[in-house]
Amino acid sequence: MNKEKRKILVTGGLGFIGSHTVVELQNEGFDVIIIDDLSNSKIEVLEGITSISHIKPEFVQLDLKNKELVSEFFSNHSIDGVIHFAASKAVGESVEQPLKYYENNIATLVYLLQEMIKNKVSNFIFSSSCTVYGQADELPITEKAPVKIAESPYGNTKQIGEEIINDTTRVEDLEAIVLRYFNPIGAHESVKIGELPIGIPQNLIPFVTQTAAGIRKELSVFGDDYPTSDGTAVRDYIHVVDLAKAHIAALRRLLDGNNKEKIEFFNVGTGKGNSVLEVVQAFEKISNQKLNYKIVGRREGDIVSAYADTTLANQELGWQSKLTLEDGLASAWKWQQKQS
Ligand code: WQD
Repeated sequence: MNKEKRKILVTGGLGFIGSHTVVELQNEGFDVIIIDDLSNSKIEVLEGITSISHIKPEFVQLDLKNKELVSEFFSNHSIDGVIHFAASKAVGESVEQPLKYYENNIATLVYLLQEMIKNKVSNFIFSSSCTVYGQADELPITEKAPVKIAESPYGNTKQIGEEIINDTTRVEDLEAIVLRYFNPIGAHESVKIGELPIGIPQNLIPFVTQTAAGIRKELSVFGDDYPTSDGTAVRDYIHVVDLAKAHIAALRRLLDGNNKEKIEFFNVGTGKGNSVLEVVQAFEKISNQKLNYKIVGRREGDIVSAYADTTLANQELGWQSKLTLEDGLASAWKWQQKQS
C-alpha cells in the first residue's frame, strides 16, 4: 500500500488541536477523515482547513456516544489509524456535571476501541494531559512521574482513559501512543484556524486576547503568592502547530512499527516554564499595548508549577517544539483580531 495515502480517522477533528493536526496530516500526504459532533466546534473550521491545505477532508458529523453509528462508520470505512481528540474539556463544567464527562469521554472511548478491534484497526493515538501528574514532586516532569489523584472529573477521564487503553493493549491487537499535552496555545500562521472558546474562556491565553480585544474588562491573575520567581503560577505553553506535529511523529512511529511497547507515553511541551505575569508581559510586548489585569486570589484546584521534560519525545519521536511563547501569543492575538 502507498504509505502516504494511508487513511487516518481524526475524532474531534474540527476542534482546536484536532483541526491543526488535520492540516499537518494533509501536509504530510495522509488521507484524513474527520468525525466531529460539532458540540464544541463549528462547521466553518472545515473551510478553514480546506483553504490552508487545498484539500477538503472527508467529514462525518457523528456523536461517538451513538454506538450503532460508530459501528456503521467502521463497517463503511477502511481506516489505518485513529487520532482521538473528541472529548469534553472544561474542568469547571466537569465538576458540575461529572456524568456528562464520564459519558462523553469514557463511554465514547470504549465504543471507539471496540470498533477498532472488531475491524482490525490497530494504531491509536490518545489525547491526554499533563493534568495526570497533578503537582509533580520534581520539575521538569518526566513520564516516570507518578499519576496523582485527579483534581476534577475531567482530569479523571484522562487518567481512566489511559488505563482503559493500557488494559486493552495487553490483550488485544492494539498499539497506542498516549500524548500528554502541556498547555496548548496559538493558531495556525495563516490564522484561518485557531481556538474558538465558547462563552467565557477558562484558559489563560484566550482570556488575555479577549481582554486585549475589549471583549473582557480585565484579566484576573489567579494568585501571586505561589513559590515561584514572581509569585504567579508556572506552566509550559506549547504552540498548537508544534503539538500537531508531535501527532504526526507518533503516528509514523506506529505505522512504521517503530514503537517499543504496545502502549507508550510521551510528554508534549516545550520544556520551558513561564509564569502568568511573564505571559502577560510577553503579550504586552507583542501586541504593543497594556493589558488590563488585576491580581486576585488563587483559583481552586490550580497547581503551582508544571513544565515538561521532553527528552523522551525528542529521542523517541524525533520531535521537538520549535515555536516560542511569543510565536504562540502573536498568532493567538492575530487570530483574535480576525474574529468579529
Ligand atoms: C494557566 C495559568 C491559571 C486563567 C487547564 C486544564 C488542563 C488542560 C489545560 C485542557 C494558571 C492562570 C488562567 C485566568 C489566570 N486541559 N490563569 N487567569 O489550569 O494549567 O490547565 O487547561 O483541555 O487539563 O486543567 O490552564 O490556561 O486555565 O491556566 O491567572 O483567567 O493561568 O491560574 O496558572 P491550566 P489555564
